[in-house]
Amino acid sequence: MDLPSFLLCILLEVLAINCQDVAQGRIVGGYAPVPHSIKYIVSIQTTERQHVCGGSLINKYWVITAAHCNVGINKMMIVAGDYSLIIYEGTEQEILPQLLVPHPEYNSTTNNNDIMLIKLKAPVYLNSYISIILLPRQGASILEGRVCRVSGWGYTSPSGGQIPSTLRTVKLPIVSTEKCNSSESFGGLITENMVCAGYSAGGMDACQGDSGGPLVCEGRVYGVVSWGRGCADAQFPGVYTAVSKYRRWIDNTIFSFYSRCNKI
Ligand code: ARG
Repeated sequence: MDLPSFLLCILLEVLAINCQDVAQGRIVGGYAPVPHSIKYIVSIQTTERQHVCGGSLINKYWVITAAHCNVGINKMMIVAGDYSLIIYEGTEQEILPQLLVPHPEYNSTTNNNDIMLIKLKAPVYLNSYISIILLPRQGASILEGRVCRVSGWGYTSPSGGQIPSTLRTVKLPIVSTEKCNSSESFGGLITENMVCAGYSAGGMDACQGDSGGPLVCEGRVYGVVSWGRGCADAQFPGVYTAVSKYRRWIDNTIFSFYSRCNKI
């Protein structure tokens, strides 16, 4: 541990926060990216500034996240340009939502169609800390073994309680739906609208609090963190909403929003 980290740890010890959690950060088995290098991620927070989920900016007015992150439009705010959740860095832009569009067929029992669009009240100002991420084309598939990146402010250990800290990230390979649905793994719970990513040995994964956040492959957001069994368990990869199945729905939702507004 270097001196600044050591001093930060002492400060955090004083604040009665578990230092090891801070040293390890979030996302199980991952690491801290260079600050503000993952520019498309947003933190979805309650109006009391409690982080609840991740999300991705797909243009300056719209965020993509998971439907299960729907805490209600009046309780939600979106923070772009964030890195440390506890330190004000001056790069943050906080914007309220104007409209939440959870997928109309979202099923909270099966987790099918776990995707939601958020229209922002005001545009995010894109700069060197904040940018957008491209969407995959409708129906595009991502091959087994392709390495993707998931990022978030979620738990760093399956048991760990969440404390506010810095963004974490980890690279994970895509697991075929066939393998993910096998009897040793999810045994049929994976629909065609989901994609799995992780190592069969476990150890690296998204976890609670990473939900709604981006799984980026080949420069596009192919997955939205959705669910799993525990976190980073062997044989149980993370399960993501397959964004490519929703490209048409996303485009139509955004387009119809503007055509509706133009008529008024
Ligand atoms: N549902 C969780 C959340 O709300 C995310 C779970 C992801 N789990 C995993 N093992 N990849 O934050």
